Amino acid sequence: MATHRIGILTGGGDAPGLNAVIRAVVKYAVGKLHWQVIGVEDAFNGLLEAPRRLQDLTPRSCQDLLSKGGTVLGTTNRADPFSYPDEDGNLVDRSADLAAAIKEEGLEGLVVIGGDGTQAIGLRLMDTHGIPVLGVPKTIDNDLSATDLTFGFISAVEAATDALDRLHTTAESHDRVMLLEVMGRDAGWIALWAGVAGGADCIAIPEIPYDPDKFAAKIKARRMKGRHFTLIVVAEGAQPIEGDSLPSEVQHGKGSIKTGGAAETLARSLTERLNVETRTTVLGHLQRGGSPVAFDRVLATEFGVKAVELIHAGRWGEMVRLKDNEVSSVPIRDAVSEYRTVDQDHPLIATARAVGIEFGG
Ligand code: F6P
Repeated sequence: MATHRIGILTGGGDAPGLNAVIRAVVKYAVGKLHWQVIGVEDAFNGLLEAPRRLQDLTPRSCQDLLSKGGTVLGTTNRADPFSYPDEDGNLVDRSADLAAAIKEEGLEGLVVIGGDGTQAIGLRLMDTHGIPVLGVPKTIDNDLSATDLTFGFISAVEAATDALDRLHTTAESHDRVMLLEVMGRDAGWIALWAGVAGGADCIAIPEIPYDPDKFAAKIKARRMKGRHFTLIVVAEGAQPIEGDSLPSEVQHGKGSIKTGGAAETLARSLTERLNVETRTTVLGHLQRGGSPVAFDRVLATEFGVKAVELIHAGRWGEMVRLKDNEVSSVPIRDAVSEYRTVDQDHPLIATARAVGIEFGG
């Protein structure tokens, strides 16, 4: 006899490890505790559309999910029930319909796996309709202040580092300046970690507006030492100090920003200043897709199990997190209030500078 019947969904951009969280929740809650776990497809949409799109999840249906990238439940960053597009494209509040659907399906509450936007929706559902929500943080950007790490981040860094290693050999062979653009429109964590891990000579991040002259000076200095190639990592949100806007269309508002352009802008600035051959690579969604690395599989599994433990203890309203090497939890209300960008005094910035990496500012 099931003692709990809960829903689970994934919202926002996908991240390697989402499936590992779903699997852990189901293996523990269904396999061990004999609860029912209902997967809601495409974030909240599966409960809002007719017919509803729900999956009865079992340990068997979650077989082989540990290493699988993406999310078997599907996801979207256009599924805010408080601002939901109707047939004519007008945005309407459908949160009451969602609350009614949750009640009709007999769901005690929802495990919401998502970034700050999705967690904020969860919080609003709790506040407005009294729906119990349990948060699991997700973002490859690692920019949620409430948790030291999110699963998916290390996998993204691994992909970016691998790309740098590959660029390194071809850059060296051709004496070129190679620029790798990685994700991170507001926070430069992926660029910083991958830059350090991949031996980049320069890193451009949104938190440190760069002076192109400083990067040009770095390239020159390397040449003087007989190093005729340079590797530069550019976060997609990096900008020059003069405030040149990105050449590609950039709108603000979650999910609406198209990546690309930052590395190209810097490459152009460098060719204006130096006689160099540049090549840019935009890594894009290659750093978000694919299998989670071992660390992310472990973290995702720990987060999933912790989520079930919290529900078991009646602690809805909390979000699991990793703090000081321990998986614990924090009220979602506190978790969504702060965003974490790279502090210019962060020890990893100091480490990077100590090994000669130029930030352009
Ligand atoms: O927030 C996660 C993230 O991967 C960002 O780093 C990136 O800017 C954005 O999502 C890309 O979103 P989309 O998949 O909608 O292009």
